[in-house]
Amino acid sequence: MAATLTQYPSILDFIGHTPLIHLKRINPYPLATFLAKAEFTNPGGSVKDRMVLHIINDAEKRGVLKKGGTLIENTSGNTGAAVAMIAAIRGYKAILTMPDKVSQEKQNALKAYGAEIIVCPTSAPPDSPEHYVNRAISLANETPNSFRINQYDNPKNPEAHYLTTGPEIWEQSHGKVDYFVASASTGGTISGVGRFLKEKNPKVKVVMPDPIGSIYYHYFKTGNIPEGGNCNYQLEGIGEDHIAHAMDFSILDDVIKVKDKDAFQCGRRLALEEGVFAGGSSGANVWACLEIAKTLKEPAVIVTVLPDGGIKYLSKMYNDAWMKKNNYL
Ligand SMILES: Cc1ncc(COP(=O)(O)O)c(C=O)c1O
Repeated sequence: MAATLTQYPSILDFIGHTPLIHLKRINPYPLATFLAKAEFTNPGGSVKDRMVLHIINDAEKRGVLKKGGTLIENTSGNTGAAVAMIAAIRGYKAILTMPDKVSQEKQNALKAYGAEIIVCPTSAPPDSPEHYVNRAISLANETPNSFRINQYDNPKNPEAHYLTTGPEIWEQSHGKVDYFVASASTGGTISGVGRFLKEKNPKVKVVMPDPIGSIYYHYFKTGNIPEGGNCNYQLEGIGEDHIAHAMDFSILDDVIKVKDKDAFQCGRRLALEEGVFAGGSSGANVWACLEIAKTLKEPAVIVTVLPDGGIKYLSKMYNDAWMKKNNYL
């Protein structure tokens, strides 16, 4: 294949246009075709680059983000990497709050871009001032000339995926999508992509794996917010202890519960069997694809996303001692 080599004005110019990879070896079900969108190939290392760039571009255009300003966000690490990367290029300061379960590798990566990080207890309930989202909100109120990305409630988050990830999947799959599978935190990815794909073909089924301990499964099934959703699971960046407004539950056809152990083991199989070194949420997504594939009565194309890469989890899911200690092996 003849490669087209080109120059890019900056690293931000190759956000998006990620590969859609046919996963063949991990899928034993002949009726299913698995296609996975390799979002870890974005320059900040995750699916979050798309929405952060979209939100910052919009804020600059509207004049609410001014030269020399401070970007503030609550993040499990990936949004932070995107914010810190863009801040470095565009001359903003970045302050990022995160729960203490975020891996050391992710925390250090943000510091590498020059961001200031504030680590908050994972166990802090959603109404506590120590909760990482509330810390970001109060920082944004206290800091002059600051702009909070507000990924949980910002409609520009799903819009970024509606405008880019969804159309890319449609084009790369030649419009042959039967299922779209994605675990969610803000819900930006699944809501934006799901909406786009359903507009193209209302028969597309949108399925979300949700970690045990997150409130989304219960909320989807009953319409009520359960007591005790505390995010005390080990999977990073998916599931929630509060309802994000970027999450459009009306786009979902089903939510299935996923265990840490199944997600991490499936993630490790991705590396071993497909040569794809991805994170725990990728494992959760591919595990859910396998669950769907098991039940198929006719051929189906199941598309999913691989939100981030494995290198960020070397001390956790790719560390045998950590896996054994947590009874995940
Ligand atoms: C590793 C990882 N996977 C999946 C997601 C979910 O993406 P979204 O917030 O678009 O629902 C996130 C979000 O933080 C993440 O960090």
